Amino acid sequence: MLKLSLWSFALFLGLCYSADHDMFKDCSRINFCTTLRSRSPLDKYTVNRTGFVLQSNGRADFTLEPNDGSTNLNLSIYSLTDNRFRIQVKEVNSSRYELNNVLDGPPPIVGMYGFVFEDERMSIPVGDNIITIYYSPFKMEFYATDVLQLVLDGTYLTFEDSLDQAFAFGVSFPQALQLYGIHEHADSLALQTTQVSGTDPYRLRNLDVSGYELNSPMALYGAVPVLYGHGPNATSGVFLHNAAEQWIEITNDEDTQAYLMVESGILDLFILLGPTPTEVVRQYVALTGTAHLPQLWTLGYHQSRWNYESQDDVKDVVANFTTYNFPLDVIWLDIEYTDAKKYFTWDSNMFSDPVEMQQNISATNKRLVTIIDPHIKAETGYSVYDGALEKDLFVKNADGSNFEGDCWPGLSSYIDFLNPEARNYYSSFYSYDNFPSTTPVLAGIWNDMNEPSVFDNSIEKTLPGDTLHYGGVVHRDIHNIYGLLHTMSTHQGLMARDNGTTRPFVLTRSHFAGTQRYSAIWTGDNTADWGYLSVSYSQCLDANLLGIVFCGADIGGFANDPDVELLQRWYQAGAWLPFYRAHSTSGSMRREPYLFDEEVQQVIRNALQLRYKHLPVWYTLFYEHTRNKDPIIRPLFYHYPQDTDVYRISDHLLVGRDILVRAVAEPGVESVQVYFPGGADEHWISVDNAEVYDGNGFVNISVTIDAIPVYYRRGSVIVRKETVRLSSDEMANDGYTLYVNLDADNKASGTVYLDDNTSFNYVDSKEYNYLRIDMEGSDVTLTKIDEDSNSSNFDFIIDQVVVNKIIKAPQNGKPGQYRQQMFKNDASRELLKNLKFKFDNPARIKLI
Ligand code: NOJ
Repeated sequence: MLKLSLWSFALFLGLCYSADHDMFKDCSRINFCTTLRSRSPLDKYTVNRTGFVLQSNGRADFTLEPNDGSTNLNLSIYSLTDNRFRIQVKEVNSSRYELNNVLDGPPPIVGMYGFVFEDERMSIPVGDNIITIYYSPFKMEFYATDVLQLVLDGTYLTFEDSLDQAFAFGVSFPQALQLYGIHEHADSLALQTTQVSGTDPYRLRNLDVSGYELNSPMALYGAVPVLYGHGPNATSGVFLHNAAEQWIEITNDEDTQAYLMVESGILDLFILLGPTPTEVVRQYVALTGTAHLPQLWTLGYHQSRWNYESQDDVKDVVANFTTYNFPLDVIWLDIEYTDAKKYFTWDSNMFSDPVEMQQNISATNKRLVTIIDPHIKAETGYSVYDGALEKDLFVKNADGSNFEGDCWPGLSSYIDFLNPEARNYYSSFYSYDNFPSTTPVLAGIWNDMNEPSVFDNSIEKTLPGDTLHYGGVVHRDIHNIYGLLHTMSTHQGLMARDNGTTRPFVLTRSHFAGTQRYSAIWTGDNTADWGYLSVSYSQCLDANLLGIVFCGADIGGFANDPDVELLQRWYQAGAWLPFYRAHSTSGSMRREPYLFDEEVQQVIRNALQLRYKHLPVWYTLFYEHTRNKDPIIRPLFYHYPQDTDVYRISDHLLVGRDILVRAVAEPGVESVQVYFPGGADEHWISVDNAEVYDGNGFVNISVTIDAIPVYYRRGSVIVRKETVRLSSDEMANDGYTLYVNLDADNKASGTVYLDDNTSFNYVDSKEYNYLRIDMEGSDVTLTKIDEDSNSSNFDFIIDQVVVNKIIKAPQNGKPGQYRQQMFKNDASRELLKNLKFKFDNPARIKLI
């Protein structure tokens, strides 16, 4: 079982960037981790057979009796819809904290109607699934249609009074070869085996880790305690609904298992029986919810920097984007815009007229996002502070006094977002009245430093575990949801500010399971180095599999200065992550795209324009996520689950099902290995040239600095907007171009979604147009997917149809060729005459 992991190899080679290991602890410096990690199999618990009780709410209970004199445990089983179970374990008369605020409503329970008792075990059949419980040693097996998918192994189960509430347990995935999940780490998408001496388990504890390392199990800003086990025959998963610190030991291959060590709280485990990647992701996301549809502009390009120094600086940057013909939707302001880091205020010297600045931004159809952090400057006279003090809304020390720690403003207190009244209070500051000089042009909010960050290295730069929250809850029990609660309050504030008419946009650094309901995420303080470009794909793919779909990384790298090659490659790769923002640290060189030589500018402009051309694809995928919970970007194994060769590929992604992208994250290369999935019958059509490849694995593809490899799947219809203007608003009324990639039967299909790009009318009054597009030969058929939606304001106007047809099949890794034919719907309709359009709902679809 001992294997040399890739990261121990990377550590051996030596890394240029390092987090402060004196400050951020490894397992050996954390008592519960060291003790639990070194445990050999305990076989500590036996089931009390006489104690099975089926409660009226569909829950089955029994007791586990330990052999070491520690307290008996109660174990409850809930059978949920969609091949899911929930297992809760805690001591009899437990006083442990039980988590709230994370689930998107109570999980729907289905009844359990029979128990089959045998000598050694008992079984509970539910639909096609069976749970088998072994009495001694205790063990639970989960079968889906007679296949053993998952085992909760009692061998390693232990609840420890001596470790002050810590507990540990093991899960194994008999059908899996590879584990994924437990966001957030700067590591490959496929989790590494950790059972190697000298290598830590993966840690989940939200921390402000500046200079974070690559290929590392160290904790980062977010924690999503979901694990998927995947193999060619099945995928299953678990979600540990617990926000305390966790360490997770991983073993892949023949004996794929995880051992979870948790600081406190109860063992509240959701079991997801898949059996496909799509189903297991949907089963998980149904528990914590989907992101609502973002406003269209949020999918455009965002320009940020710590800091744009003044309103003139902001105006100048915005003007230059126009002058140099770069599309831009949003300009961002970091902490320096405030008066002495007092959030909800302005620095009156550098930003003397914020309203005029917003008007200026809006004049070119762009928007503003500003940062708002959760720490509150401890200064009498600062209204946010005074009010919170008066209403008693700050996190407290163990002795009941308000906690104070250092952050950007100096001495600060921390809003206790666990308290609903504190969330209401804080949310009220987003109103136009309470946040002076703000207008709707301030269209989104950036919540940073919300792990939360406290500038004190002796406490790992965050709140001490024994600080107190609302209801006497100790911080360590809810540490990992502090950021989630912060964004909940911000989201609430933006909803209230605009009377629920506008979809809020929030970006957060700290996150947890369920963050997607309130906020987008980015990968924090990365570095201008090739490895960080590469790992951004792993990080955002992982987040997407775990429901947090709106994810991006600082383009160009936050720390240090990228060289122009890296910067260009980052713009190209970043264009295919859901959130597309350039950001850089204070003191770094200015790197707005117009500052570079004309050739570099053109490469970046092309990357930005390619992003904007595909805005309809992104918007449609985000809408589909709200309907079916699917990730926006997907690793290859998601759609090609049986192909074991793709399990460890992290630098490729699929945008939806139909666009394949390979990041170029290597300097100075003239070619890269691209993996084409799907076998001989799948074909991939280059967006840059007339080449087409079959899905038979790796091919060496030549690259220049002009573009990275991007392909459309044969059989798809990709909906684009060909004319790129200076912002998404300016393209809103333009018609669409269909890229039709005909398959061997001369067919292709796709979908497109249209609405007002802003409001919740798509939910409240079903005002949208969601269409299926089918092309067969030269006929295009458009079918409205929801008959009852009101699409009258959202005509789908087709300007052009580009038909890609294969004229020479690829062979032996050598490309084939396709021919591109363009049919334009221009005034004369000359070129369109070869195409026939059929409309199933003609009244609702307009062709000009
Ligand atoms: C830390 C964030 O990660 C970074 O993006 C930001 O620029 C600084 N805080 C300053 O606000």
